Amino acid sequence: MAGDSAALVVAAAPRRMRNADAAWPYRQDSDFHYLTGFPEPDAVLALLPGRGRGEVVLFCRERDPERERIDGMRVGPDDAVARFGVDDAFPVEDIDDILPGMLEGRTRLYCHFGRENEFDAQLLRWLRRLRSSRGGAVVPREFVALGHLLHELRLYKSPAELALMRRAASIAAEAQRAAVRAAQPGAAEYEVEAALLQVMRARGAVPSYPPTVAGGVNACVLHYTANQGRLARGDVLLIDAGAEMACYASDITRTWPVGGRFSAPQRALYEVTHEAQCAAIDEVRAGRPFNAAHDAAVRVIVRGLCALKLLRGGARTALKSGEYKRFFPHKTGHWIGLDVHDVGDYRVDDEPRVLEPGMVVTVEPGIYIPPDDMSVPSKWRGIGVRIEDDVAVGARGNEVLTADLPKDVGAVQALCAG
Ligand code: GLY
Ligand code: MN
Ligand code: MN
Repeated sequence: MAGDSAALVVAAAPRRMRNADAAWPYRQDSDFHYLTGFPEPDAVLALLPGRGRGEVVLFCRERDPERERIDGMRVGPDDAVARFGVDDAFPVEDIDDILPGMLEGRTRLYCHFGRENEFDAQLLRWLRRLRSSRGGAVVPREFVALGHLLHELRLYKSPAELALMRRAASIAAEAQRAAVRAAQPGAAEYEVEAALLQVMRARGAVPSYPPTVAGGVNACVLHYTANQGRLARGDVLLIDAGAEMACYASDITRTWPVGGRFSAPQRALYEVTHEAQCAAIDEVRAGRPFNAAHDAAVRVIVRGLCALKLLRGGARTALKSGEYKRFFPHKTGHWIGLDVHDVGDYRVDDEPRVLEPGMVVTVEPGIYIPPDDMSVPSKWRGIGVRIEDDVAVGARGNEVLTADLPKDVGAVQALCAG
């Protein structure tokens, strides 16, 4: 954002209602959190470069003892300066009177468009006010979508961000261990979910997305979150559950044998998935393209499915035709950070992005045999397996943030049996 001809304006996430007058638990907007660390709704950040050394200005709710008795403490403009490192802070109630003047004389405005209708309308109001002011004020005439620039920054995690992601990963790993202990034959999926949530909340984290606790054929539903089924001995149990710590996400999947032993077909698919995942993790290295992990996973899965005769016609044919997508219908990973599916371009100049130190990706191949797929022998039908870890790219090799949680078949069976 060059010179004093530009300004940047970003809003906090609004409070969102769940039903009637009950709100969802508040979650700050990831971009706003990245730039401010400020945890409240009804706030706006303005970055005003130049003019000396430039200014960081925050608009936020004023202290209000009456409201605070109901909704809890507010930071207030005075403390915002002391605690959040902004140069100046004003009551958000006064923003219409103050911010347009701060934008005057600047020709370029960086902001998000089309995210929050209310903020878009507010922005237009400020510009209208500037335009209608007498004396020919210079009004921003270039509007730059902030997303791309900011999201390039967010793609590279700092050591402090990586430390939070390690913590989020370790909590999610501990949650899976607790979940496995609860996953006895006869237990309901929601009881297993309760064990996950118990650990996350006990460690000060929240789920980074609604957990999937999928027993038996439910494991074939990629984003299953009903979690209402009951586990039976001999089922696989697919748990995809991440923890969010201080707004940073983790995202782990493991597939467990209820009762402690995989059946032969379950084990065969598990081992192919595991081999695919290890091959993919090996490709998460600085200098390798983003898609190399997926390509490696596909190669192992196609070879494995051909060997098990789930795919016909040889690996080369199955790879070319895309026939394997019947059983492996998704990609192998995504960026992860403040958002589970984090921001950042996957392609640059129409080429897959090359991995660099500080980037963090998930690696999550899976095999799912639909329960109603009559083209395969019945022993395979309704088995779903996915294994997912979070992997940080380092200057020398990679770091599996979720390595705490075992995944080789022996260790997985032992945990379930124990
Ligand atoms: N848990 C969502 C995902 O794995 O992408
Ligand atoms: Mn994921
Ligand atoms: Mn996941």
